[in-house]
Amino acid sequence: MSDEPQQPERATTVASRLTEVARRFDRPIATVNLPVHRASTVLFDTLEAAAATGVATMAGERGASTYGTAGTPTTYALMDALAELEGGGVACRAALAPSGLSAIATALLAFAKTGDHVLISDSVYGPTRVLAEGVLARLGIETSFYHPLVGAGIADLMRANTRIVFTESPGSYTFEVQDIPAICRVARERGAITMVDNTWASPVFARPFDWGVDVSLLALTKYWSGHADLLMGAMVVREPLWPAMWAAVRQLGVCVGGDDAYLILRGMRTLDVRMRRHEANALAVARWLQTRAEVARVLHPALESHPGHALWKRDFSGSTGLFSFELRRDALLGEGAAPAAPGADADARVQRKLAALCERRRYFRIGYSWGGYESLIMPAKIATLRSVDPWTGGPLVRLHTGLEEPAELIADLEAGFEAMRAAA
Ligand SMILES: Cc1ncc(COP(=O)(O)O)c(C=O)c1O
Repeated sequence: MSDEPQQPERATTVASRLTEVARRFDRPIATVNLPVHRASTVLFDTLEAAAATGVATMAGERGASTYGTAGTPTTYALMDALAELEGGGVACRAALAPSGLSAIATALLAFAKTGDHVLISDSVYGPTRVLAEGVLARLGIETSFYHPLVGAGIADLMRANTRIVFTESPGSYTFEVQDIPAICRVARERGAITMVDNTWASPVFARPFDWGVDVSLLALTKYWSGHADLLMGAMVVREPLWPAMWAAVRQLGVCVGGDDAYLILRGMRTLDVRMRRHEANALAVARWLQTRAEVARVLHPALESHPGHALWKRDFSGSTGLFSFELRRDALLGEGAAPAAPGADADARVQRKLAALCERRRYFRIGYSWGGYESLIMPAKIATLRSVDPWTGGPLVRLHTGLEEPAELIADLEAGFEAMRAAA
């Protein structure tokens, strides 16, 4: 006879029955996709199993979880997929965070401590700069910003206490391409770790661990999700850095829910095809913009005219839907007006022209994000977001080219330029 107590077939009260029904998974139906696990509580058969899982979870073993914050089969499936895809053959582990910015913050907090110095690219995503100047500064972690084209010259900026070099390529809004392999070589010699925000390229178009980076950060909110309907971030690290990364994740309580993790897994299945369509659409729009009299420059690294084109070609295997263009201020104000009258009146006029260009577009809607299936337009406000390499060009507009028909996107912008010309 078994020692196990006999369980009645069914609970006899509605209250108990409500907790028991629909919880048996012993007859699985084979489906294409994984089920979604939603969990706070994780159950154990014995105290010994609970204790052993606790040790494994603390050590960051794959798939170990004592509690929903540590992970579920759904979040572990995504973590393993990210480690494999972003690692690109280099042994990596990945953790998840509730947004791209929280992934950046968690990684910086995992590896920097009071008294350390951090080098961050001047062209970094704005909130990363704000984080460095806010929380990191308050913790006594000093940041210097470096020119995005510094390359091996980063050696001159490194101090004895420089712990992290944080890169992002191409740069936010201004699309400078950095020589990240050269930066990584110097950082490694000096005992600093390198981080990259690889949100723009994703593993479809870049292999940052081949460049030598130690940590790759991804806003999954963008292309991995692909549908503008959720927020998530990932920290992908070389295996030896995993214990420190995991310790920070656990201590800070950084975690995501199963439904969102499932949606990223779902978006991942079409990441490659979507990225290639974004690439083709963006290039069609960018090449058309190059022919417009109102446009001074198109800032897109896959264009031969881009100063970082050769580096981009060396380090990336494709480009995406996000790029910027610079408007000719004199074209906005009328010939000769820019140098003669740069004052408040002229600025207000430029703002009205920009509003006419961006507002009431059919496809290019106004929004701060990117990476979804839809097109977006946003004038850049980077005056306060550059300290080493201030923007001195004309008005800058960022586009995210979505998956629409490129001829229709071009017609939409053409209507915008017409409205801009007609605006007072
Ligand atoms: C380059 C880059 N990194 C990180 C982020 C942050 O992602 P999230 O919006 O999920 O915090 C963004 C968001 O715009 C971004 O553009």
